[in-house]
Amino acid sequence: MEVLVTGGCGFIGAHIVRELSAAGFLVVVLDDLSSGHIESLGSSCDFSLYQADLRDAIEVESCFRQHMFQCVVHTGGLSLHGESVDDPESYYGANVIGSLNLLALCKQYEVPHFLFSSTCAIYGHPQQVPIREDHPLLPTNSYGRTKLAIEHALASYREAHGLNYLALRYFNTAGAHPGGDLGEDHEPETHLFPNAFRVALGQREQLTIHGRDFPTPDGTCIRDYVHVQDLARAHLLALRHLLNGGPSGSLNLGSGRGHSVLDVVRACEKACGKSIRIQEGPRRPGEVPVLVADIARIREWLHWTPERSDLDTIAADAWRYFARHPRGYKS
Ligand SMILES: NC(=O)c1ccc[n+]([C@@H]2O[C@H](COP(=O)([O-])OP(=O)(O)OC[C@H]3O[C@@H](n4cnc5c(N)ncnc54)[C@H](O)[C@@H]3O)[C@@H](O)[C@H]2O)c1
Repeated sequence: MEVLVTGGCGFIGAHIVRELSAAGFLVVVLDDLSSGHIESLGSSCDFSLYQADLRDAIEVESCFRQHMFQCVVHTGGLSLHGESVDDPESYYGANVIGSLNLLALCKQYEVPHFLFSSTCAIYGHPQQVPIREDHPLLPTNSYGRTKLAIEHALASYREAHGLNYLALRYFNTAGAHPGGDLGEDHEPETHLFPNAFRVALGQREQLTIHGRDFPTPDGTCIRDYVHVQDLARAHLLALRHLLNGGPSGSLNLGSGRGHSVLDVVRACEKACGKSIRIQEGPRRPGEVPVLVADIARIREWLHWTPERSDLDTIAADAWRYFARHPRGYKS
């Protein structure tokens, strides 16, 4: 059964590609390699790779013409919150126009199922924590707004054309494949675990903690970290759920537990056996003190449960990758 994974050369997409192909699906990858890495697919891979920009409907259609996809797993796009505030054109282009191109092709080529990489950023400032899926959707930046627009488009395609979909609202994704050959390689890197390990590797002098005056026990932000391997497994279960006729909708995908920035730093220090120098910096605009998912719905719908999403396992797996690839896939 053929499945298209957009953004399959990115951090999350590459883990999903590996999970789905290990489960026997024939995976085709579409990626423009703007931030992804061909190396993430592995040297012995037998995936078809289409290097195409989602915004270019003609290029993307050439891929649909040559395959009979049962599902599109759509992880491709832009995801830097701060950048999205300054450059909304790029975010609406890649995340909205690119996604609408894909949905139109799904209709034209009768692709029945769709999995979408959504985000907790669509909730904005949480009114209660843990956050349930029925929480008001009030994103505070263009990134979150573009993802919310596509959740609405999916609901419309469901109503009008019967497309079956799950929008998976990821919380903070971290860790690496336990094999040590697949992990995060972003430039610029904005995520906490890789930046902590860059300090441990001597590539940065110190890790900046953005705000120590939040109303949390240690004054730093609390986030919900989900292991990328747990997240990839959730996609396999989500695909089976749709293939078995399960309902469409939106699901939080997090660990259901909150950890502070300082908790993460301590877990990284334990994993690499080095101390990580920190410096205090100002809060980032729009940063909220606590973001934690209520994961009751995904547990119920997919029978999914986080298995590697405790901080020590996330840090140990991420460090295994960074110790082998200190400067990313090219090292
Ligand atoms: N990493 C997280 O914690 C997190 C949290 C919530 C949601 N998400 C979402 O998950 C998805 C994957 O995130 P990631 O961290 O793996 O990002 P990533 O940057 O590592 O991967 C994105 C991939 O999409 C490709 N891409 C970007 N624009 C494209 C375009 N116009 N056409 C074709 N390919 C394009 C990139 O080359 C890259 O391979 C994104 O949609 C992101 O919004 C990520």
